[in-house]
Amino acid sequence: MAQSDIGLIGLAVMGQNLARNIESRGFKISVYNRTTKTMNNFIDQYGSETLEGQAELKDFVESLTSPRKIIVMVQAGSPVDAVIASLLPLLDKGDTIIDCGNSHFPDTIRREAELSTQGFHFFGCGVSGGEEGALKGPSLMPGGNKTVWENLAPIFTAIAAKDFSGNPCVTYLGENGAGHYVKMVHNGIEYAVMQMMAEAYDLLSKSFGLSAPEIADIFEKYNEGKLQSFLFEIAVPILREKDDLGEGYLLDEILDKAGQKGTGRWTAIEGLERGVDISTIIQAVHARTVSSRKDFRMQLAKQYENPSTGNMLPEEALIDIIPELESALYAGMLVAYAQGFDLLRQAAEEMHWELNYAEVARIWEGGCIIRAQILNTLHEAFVEANNAPLWSINAIAQDLQQAWLSLRTINNLGVQSGTPLFCLGAALASLEAMTEERTSANFIQALRDSFGAHTYQRIDRDGTFHTEWGN
Ligand code: 6PG
Repeated sequence: MAQSDIGLIGLAVMGQNLARNIESRGFKISVYNRTTKTMNNFIDQYGSETLEGQAELKDFVESLTSPRKIIVMVQAGSPVDAVIASLLPLLDKGDTIIDCGNSHFPDTIRREAELSTQGFHFFGCGVSGGEEGALKGPSLMPGGNKTVWENLAPIFTAIAAKDFSGNPCVTYLGENGAGHYVKMVHNGIEYAVMQMMAEAYDLLSKSFGLSAPEIADIFEKYNEGKLQSFLFEIAVPILREKDDLGEGYLLDEILDKAGQKGTGRWTAIEGLERGVDISTIIQAVHARTVSSRKDFRMQLAKQYENPSTGNMLPEEALIDIIPELESALYAGMLVAYAQGFDLLRQAAEEMHWELNYAEVARIWEGGCIIRAQILNTLHEAFVEANNAPLWSINAIAQDLQQAWLSLRTINNLGVQSGTPLFCLGAALASLEAMTEERTSANFIQALRDSFGAHTYQRIDRDGTFHTEWGN
């Protein structure tokens, strides 16, 4: 019997769907799962001449054509190490393991180094798009040895989603952890974008008393303009969903505690460690953290009385606020992207990855969770400006300039109505500060020098200065 082109270990839904996607593009694939029953059930349903399952890892490895390519789709962390350890004794030098989970990039760098010294190849490939993306076409973010990529490219190119021009949403990103790093930042941006949407929902509800389906109508319109995106697309039916266990709308019955698996937090930590302002992403993580303290919030809500509670705006004001909010969201998202790409740039420089930012924006145009019209705008801007920082590209600066006042108006509204705008607030502060000739840091420097003789520099002459302040 013909050997398989590729193997896949880990048959949770993402793994199953990725295997079916690969098979549907004309490749033969073998699958393996630690619990054989899961594999048998999957094969009973989807098995064919070109999608076969093995109960024994040794048989699975032997069913693959050499040099072997094995996708690992298991939970990030120690399960990935466990799978690698069980595979290595069965592999030949030159075989490649591809980790398609949400692994933390330092793990990917470590694994790649460990395996390459033993003659094996290791790829970290970010996969975005959820269950449906895995099946129909995800956005793929691979990093590892460039020569090995040539062997993987035909399969990965065939299974990827398509960008706005119909090209596959995959590109080689760089050595070792580059792919998982880009996926991590994708998720950080995903956090910021989702938080801004949640803030818009909160603002409309707190300032105008709008119901979920009324907000759905507004978001539906937004999805026809420059905010067009997968996330707005799914938000509309979410806002309209009736509660089948009671009266009213399901969204109103969902506990307001946001989960998080770690990729947003990793991005936030990276921003702090590399000294890059990614305040929108950090604030999105904070917002989830605050949300998770439900019991304490309930206690404080009894102790405090928000001075703005019940400060509703007249219905007539809504007509003006709807486009202002659209512009503010657009500006906020542009800032989130500018920050995310700033982090990518800094990391690429420090890690010696040759990241092509136009390509990163392009492969996020389709398949992934943040896929949106805005990514096409960013892609074109990067191409036009030869990958200059987003903040400095004329087309982006013009858009931000135009939406600046809307972002202020919406933040004002947040203050008036007592709506915490973690991300839209951070976006505005970042826009104000990044475009400012003179910040207030002179004051910080003076304080530092006063209490700790940390010294300062002057704007009118070279050198390092210290003052005995007040003497
Ligand atoms: C994707 C998603 C995916 C996952 C999120 C959820 O790109 O397909 O980002 O990776 O659903 O990471 O993350 P949280 O549980 O942290 O919100």
